[in-house]
Amino acid sequence: MAERKKMLRLLKTKDNSFTVYNEVLNETYHSRHGAVQESRHVFIRNGLGPMLRSQKQIDILEIGFGTGLNALLSYLEFEKASSDILYTGAEPFPLDTGIISALNYPEALSLNENQSSTYFRMQEGKAIIENIQHSRFQFELIRQEFLQCRFEKQFDLVYFDAFAPDKQPDMWSRDVFTRCHELLRENGMLVTYCAKGEVKRTLKACGFKVETLPGPPGKREMIRAIKIYC
Ligand SMILES: C[S@@+](CC[C@H](N)C(=O)[O-])C[C@H]1O[C@@H](n2cnc3c(N)ncnc32)[C@H](O)[C@@H]1O
Repeated sequence: MAERKKMLRLLKTKDNSFTVYNEVLNETYHSRHGAVQESRHVFIRNGLGPMLRSQKQIDILEIGFGTGLNALLSYLEFEKASSDILYTGAEPFPLDTGIISALNYPEALSLNENQSSTYFRMQEGKAIIENIQHSRFQFELIRQEFLQCRFEKQFDLVYFDAFAPDKQPDMWSRDVFTRCHELLRENGMLVTYCAKGEVKRTLKACGFKVETLPGPPGKREMIRAIKIYC
Protein backbone atom coordinates (compact mmCIF):
# COMPACT_ATOMS: atom_id res chain seq x y z
CA MET A 1 0.00 0.00 0.00
CA ALA A 2 2.80 2.41 0.95
CA GLU A 3 4.46 1.52 -2.37
CA ARG A 4 1.27 2.37 -4.27
CA LYS A 5 1.02 5.73 -2.49
CA LYS A 6 4.56 6.62 -3.51
CA MET A 7 3.83 6.04 -7.19
CA LEU A 8 0.85 8.43 -7.28
CA ARG A 9 0.92 12.22 -7.28
CA LEU A 10 -1.39 15.06 -8.24
CA LEU A 11 -1.06 17.12 -11.42
CA LYS A 12 -2.89 20.27 -12.45
CA THR A 13 -4.39 19.96 -15.95
CA LYS A 14 -4.93 22.79 -18.46
CA ASP A 15 -8.45 23.62 -17.25
CA ASN A 16 -6.98 23.98 -13.71
CA SER A 17 -8.65 20.82 -12.41
CA PHE A 18 -6.38 18.18 -10.89
CA THR A 19 -5.72 14.64 -11.98
CA VAL A 20 -3.68 11.79 -10.53
CA TYR A 21 -0.42 10.73 -12.17
CA ASN A 22 0.74 7.12 -11.87
CA GLU A 23 4.54 7.13 -12.10
CA VAL A 24 4.93 3.42 -12.78
CA LEU A 25 2.58 3.48 -15.76
CA ASN A 26 3.63 7.03 -16.70
CA GLU A 27 -0.07 7.69 -17.16
CA THR A 28 -2.59 10.22 -15.83
CA TYR A 29 -6.14 9.41 -14.74
CA HIS A 30 -7.51 12.11 -17.09
CA SER A 31 -6.41 14.16 -20.06
CA ARG A 32 -3.69 16.70 -19.28
CA HIS A 33 -5.67 19.10 -21.50
CA GLY A 34 -8.36 19.29 -18.81
CA ALA A 35 -9.66 16.62 -16.45
CA VAL A 36 -13.08 18.18 -15.89
CA GLN A 37 -13.43 19.18 -19.56
CA GLU A 38 -12.66 15.64 -20.70
CA SER A 39 -15.03 13.94 -18.24
CA ARG A 40 -17.84 16.35 -19.08
CA HIS A 41 -17.42 15.91 -22.80
CA VAL A 42 -16.98 12.13 -23.01
CA PHE A 43 -19.20 10.82 -20.23
CA ILE A 44 -21.76 13.54 -19.56
CA ARG A 45 -22.35 15.31 -22.88
CA ASN A 46 -22.09 12.19 -25.04
CA GLY A 47 -23.35 9.60 -22.55
CA LEU A 48 -25.55 10.62 -19.67
CA GLY A 49 -26.96 13.82 -21.25
CA PRO A 50 -28.95 12.18 -24.06
CA MET A 51 -30.24 9.47 -21.69
CA LEU A 52 -31.41 11.98 -19.08
CA ARG A 53 -33.60 13.52 -21.75
CA SER A 54 -35.33 10.22 -22.57
CA GLN A 55 -35.28 7.85 -19.57
CA LYS A 56 -36.81 7.96 -16.10
CA GLN A 57 -34.19 5.62 -14.65
CA ILE A 58 -30.60 5.17 -15.76
CA ASP A 59 -28.35 2.37 -14.55
CA ILE A 60 -24.72 3.42 -14.99
CA LEU A 61 -21.66 1.21 -14.65
CA GLU A 62 -18.29 2.92 -14.45
CA ILE A 63 -15.28 0.72 -15.18
CA GLY A 64 -12.30 2.40 -13.47
CA PHE A 65 -13.86 4.65 -10.79
CA GLY A 66 -10.49 6.23 -9.82
CA THR A 67 -10.99 9.72 -8.37
CA GLY A 68 -14.78 9.54 -8.75
CA LEU A 69 -14.85 12.64 -10.98
CA ASN A 70 -17.28 11.02 -13.45
CA ALA A 71 -19.59 10.01 -10.60
CA LEU A 72 -19.44 13.52 -9.16
CA LEU A 73 -20.28 15.14 -12.53
CA SER A 74 -23.12 12.62 -13.00
CA TYR A 75 -24.43 13.53 -9.56
CA LEU A 76 -24.37 17.25 -10.46
CA GLU A 77 -26.46 16.49 -13.58
CA PHE A 78 -28.85 14.40 -11.50
CA GLU A 79 -29.49 17.35 -9.16
CA LYS A 80 -31.09 19.26 -12.07
CA ALA A 81 -32.95 16.25 -13.50
CA SER A 82 -36.10 14.28 -12.83
CA SER A 83 -34.66 10.80 -13.48
CA ASP A 84 -33.32 8.26 -11.02
CA ILE A 85 -29.67 7.32 -11.41
CA LEU A 86 -28.35 4.02 -10.07
CA TYR A 87 -24.57 4.29 -10.28
CA THR A 88 -22.16 1.39 -9.82
CA GLY A 89 -18.40 1.94 -9.89
CA ALA A 90 -15.82 -0.85 -10.27
CA GLU A 91 -12.34 -0.10 -8.94
CA PRO A 92 -9.78 -2.63 -7.66
CA PHE A 93 -7.37 0.08 -6.43
CA PRO A 94 -9.39 2.75 -4.59
CA LEU A 95 -7.45 5.94 -3.95
CA ASP A 96 -6.75 6.77 -0.34
CA THR A 97 -8.50 9.65 1.39
CA GLY A 98 -5.30 11.75 1.45
CA ILE A 99 -5.30 11.92 -2.36
CA ILE A 100 -9.06 12.37 -2.64
CA SER A 101 -9.11 15.29 -0.23
CA ALA A 102 -6.17 16.97 -1.99
CA LEU A 103 -7.99 16.98 -5.36
CA ASN A 104 -9.39 20.45 -6.12
CA TYR A 105 -12.80 19.38 -7.49
CA PRO A 106 -14.79 21.24 -4.81
CA GLU A 107 -13.14 24.54 -5.88
CA ALA A 108 -12.86 23.75 -9.60
CA LEU A 109 -16.58 22.91 -9.75
CA SER A 110 -17.69 25.49 -7.14
CA LEU A 111 -19.37 22.76 -5.09
CA ASN A 112 -21.58 23.64 -2.16
CA GLU A 113 -21.20 21.78 1.15
CA ASN A 114 -23.79 19.13 0.33
CA GLN A 115 -22.23 18.41 -3.04
CA SER A 116 -18.74 18.08 -1.51
CA SER A 117 -19.99 15.80 1.21
CA THR A 118 -21.79 13.64 -1.39
CA TYR A 119 -18.49 13.28 -3.26
CA PHE A 120 -16.70 12.14 -0.10
CA ARG A 121 -19.56 9.79 0.82
CA MET A 122 -19.27 8.11 -2.56
CA GLN A 123 -15.63 7.29 -1.80
CA GLU A 124 -16.80 5.38 1.27
CA GLY A 125 -18.65 2.94 -0.98
CA LYS A 126 -22.39 3.59 -0.70
CA ALA A 127 -24.74 6.58 -0.84
CA ILE A 128 -28.39 7.34 -1.57
CA ILE A 129 -29.45 10.95 -2.18
CA GLU A 130 -32.80 12.47 -3.15
CA ASN A 131 -33.11 15.71 -5.10
CA ILE A 132 -35.84 18.33 -4.85
CA GLN A 133 -37.80 16.53 -7.61
CA HIS A 134 -37.70 13.43 -5.32
CA SER A 135 -35.58 11.52 -7.79
CA ARG A 136 -32.99 9.19 -6.34
CA PHE A 137 -29.22 8.90 -6.91
CA GLN A 138 -28.09 5.56 -5.58
CA PHE A 139 -24.37 4.84 -5.56
CA GLU A 140 -22.31 1.73 -4.94
CA LEU A 141 -18.57 1.17 -5.31
CA ILE A 142 -17.35 -2.39 -5.90
CA ARG A 143 -13.69 -2.66 -4.96
CA GLN A 144 -12.82 -5.39 -7.43
CA GLU A 145 -11.46 -5.90 -10.92
CA PHE A 146 -14.22 -5.55 -13.47
CA LEU A 147 -14.15 -9.15 -14.69
CA GLN A 148 -14.33 -10.41 -11.09
CA CYS A 149 -17.43 -8.34 -10.27
CA ARG A 150 -20.76 -10.15 -10.02
CA PHE A 151 -23.69 -7.96 -11.06
CA GLU A 152 -27.32 -8.80 -10.48
CA LYS A 153 -28.71 -6.50 -13.14
CA GLN A 154 -28.03 -4.97 -16.53
CA PHE A 155 -27.06 -1.38 -17.26
CA ASP A 156 -28.10 1.38 -19.68
CA LEU A 157 -24.77 3.12 -19.82
CA VAL A 158 -21.14 2.04 -19.36
CA TYR A 159 -18.50 4.68 -18.66
CA PHE A 160 -15.43 2.85 -19.91
CA ASP A 161 -12.53 4.69 -18.26
CA ALA A 162 -9.64 2.22 -18.07
CA PHE A 163 -6.02 3.27 -18.57
CA ALA A 164 -5.07 3.60 -22.25
CA PRO A 165 -4.72 0.46 -24.41
CA ASP A 166 -0.92 0.76 -24.63
CA LYS A 167 -0.71 0.88 -20.78
CA GLN A 168 -3.34 -1.71 -19.89
CA PRO A 169 -4.09 -3.76 -23.03
CA ASP A 170 -6.01 -6.51 -21.16
CA MET A 171 -8.75 -3.98 -20.34
CA TRP A 172 -9.46 -3.40 -24.06
CA SER A 173 -9.77 -7.08 -24.94
CA ARG A 174 -12.57 -9.08 -26.46
CA ASP A 175 -13.30 -10.69 -23.06
CA VAL A 176 -13.86 -7.32 -21.43
CA PHE A 177 -16.04 -5.90 -24.22
CA THR A 178 -18.05 -9.14 -24.50
CA ARG A 179 -18.80 -8.79 -20.78
CA CYS A 180 -19.77 -5.12 -21.30
CA HIS A 181 -22.10 -6.21 -24.11
CA GLU A 182 -23.74 -8.85 -21.90
CA LEU A 183 -24.19 -6.33 -19.12
CA LEU A 184 -25.88 -3.70 -21.29
CA ARG A 185 -29.58 -3.62 -22.07
CA GLU A 186 -30.64 -3.41 -25.72
CA ASN A 187 -29.78 0.08 -27.08
CA GLY A 188 -27.52 0.60 -24.06
CA MET A 189 -24.36 2.64 -24.68
CA LEU A 190 -20.69 2.42 -23.83
CA VAL A 191 -18.71 5.66 -24.00
CA THR A 192 -14.95 6.01 -23.83
CA TYR A 193 -12.30 8.65 -24.47
CA CYS A 194 -10.31 6.27 -26.69
CA ALA A 195 -10.85 6.16 -30.47
CA LYS A 196 -8.20 3.70 -31.62
CA GLY A 197 -9.04 1.65 -34.73
CA GLU A 198 -8.26 -1.59 -32.95
CA VAL A 199 -10.65 -0.74 -30.11
CA LYS A 200 -13.41 0.02 -32.64
CA ARG A 201 -12.81 -3.29 -34.39
CA THR A 202 -12.95 -5.23 -31.12
CA LEU A 203 -16.17 -3.48 -30.10
CA LYS A 204 -17.74 -4.30 -33.50
CA ALA A 205 -16.67 -7.93 -33.19
CA CYS A 206 -18.47 -8.04 -29.82
CA GLY A 207 -21.78 -6.89 -31.34
CA PHE A 208 -21.63 -3.11 -30.86
CA LYS A 209 -22.54 -0.48 -33.42
CA VAL A 210 -19.64 1.97 -33.15
CA GLU A 211 -19.94 5.75 -33.55
CA THR A 212 -16.92 8.03 -33.74
CA LEU A 213 -17.67 11.42 -32.19
CA PRO A 214 -15.54 14.56 -31.87
CA GLY A 215 -13.24 14.23 -28.87
CA PRO A 216 -12.63 16.57 -25.92
CA PRO A 217 -10.00 19.36 -26.16
CA GLY A 218 -6.66 17.87 -27.19
CA LYS A 219 -8.21 14.74 -28.74
CA ARG A 220 -9.67 14.45 -32.20
CA GLU A 221 -12.18 11.67 -31.55
CA MET A 222 -13.88 9.46 -28.98
CA ILE A 223 -16.09 6.36 -29.19
CA ARG A 224 -19.74 5.76 -28.42
CA ALA A 225 -20.74 2.11 -28.90
CA ILE A 226 -24.36 0.97 -28.89
CA LYS A 227 -25.63 -2.52 -28.15
CA ILE A 228 -27.75 -3.44 -31.12
CA TYR A 229 -28.34 -7.18 -30.70
CA CYS A 230 -29.42 -9.09 -27.64
C1 LIG B 1 -7.93 6.29 -16.38
S1 LIG B 1 -8.03 5.88 -14.66
C2 LIG B 1 -9.65 6.24 -14.15
C3 LIG B 1 -10.17 7.56 -14.12
C4 LIG B 1 -11.40 7.67 -13.29
N1 LIG B 1 -12.60 7.33 -14.00
C5 LIG B 1 -11.42 9.04 -12.71
O1 LIG B 1 -12.29 9.84 -13.09
O2 LIG B 1 -10.57 9.31 -11.88
C6 LIG B 1 -8.21 4.09 -14.78
C7 LIG B 1 -8.76 3.43 -13.54
O3 LIG B 1 -9.01 2.05 -13.80
C8 LIG B 1 -8.69 1.32 -12.65
N2 LIG B 1 -8.51 -0.10 -12.99
C9 LIG B 1 -7.36 -0.77 -13.24
N3 LIG B 1 -7.63 -2.06 -13.51
C10 LIG B 1 -8.98 -2.21 -13.43
C11 LIG B 1 -9.87 -3.31 -13.56
N4 LIG B 1 -9.40 -4.54 -13.88
N5 LIG B 1 -11.19 -3.12 -13.37
C12 LIG B 1 -11.67 -1.88 -13.08
N6 LIG B 1 -10.87 -0.78 -12.93
C13 LIG B 1 -9.55 -0.94 -13.11
C14 LIG B 1 -7.41 2.02 -12.16
O4 LIG B 1 -7.12 1.70 -10.83
C15 LIG B 1 -7.79 3.47 -12.37
O5 LIG B 1 -8.44 4.00 -11.24
